[in-house]
Amino acid sequence: MNAPAKIAVLISGRGSNMQALAQNAGDDYEIVMVASDRPSAPGLAWAIEHGLPTFALSPKGIGKAAFEDVLDHTLRDAGTQWIALAGYMRLLSNAFVARWRGRIVNIHPSLLPKYKGLDTHARAIAARDLMAGCSVHVVTEELDAGEVLGQQEVAILPDDTPDTLAERVLAAEHQLYPAVLKEFVRR
Ligand code: GRF
Repeated sequence: MNAPAKIAVLISGRGSNMQALAQNAGDDYEIVMVASDRPSAPGLAWAIEHGLPTFALSPKGIGKAAFEDVLDHTLRDAGTQWIALAGYMRLLSNAFVARWRGRIVNIHPSLLPKYKGLDTHARAIAARDLMAGCSVHVVTEELDAGEVLGQQEVAILPDDTPDTLAERVLAAEHQLYPAVLKEFVRR
């Protein structure tokens, strides 16, 4: 049995996907760092309460390149092998993506390649799609365009609003992300 893969999770907000990843950690992977570009991200408080190592730094004032340099060093010092984005709202630079090529994954609330970017649920409802869902994909320089590693469909109900749909898709995300991550770090 190999040692658990060392994962760093990057968040900007409430971090519910980070929590799902942490709660499903075990023999396959462990969380070695929860990092945020927003020191006030509610998910950081949860991580601290649960004894996870955290790192928080705002790029404001120091600029993106310096921010990513510090982030990169912090992640490497923690022994990070893979990075999982979970509601991380900042675009990573091409240089950062290149340094971690093939080792950054993200969860996106649509059935990619449909609805890259924001407002995915409103767009799916407006298009009268029958199915929405979520995707875990490899992060490349192009937004939400890397290899899709796994998806979960969620039916759109006749009365759905973007908020009610988002709630059910989020529950699906919490199932999908840990399962796909476990497979990905083993392949
Ligand atoms: C999720 O909908 C995820 O798909 C998207 O951002 C949201 C993050 O939610 N990338 P949370 O911070 O994990 O609760």
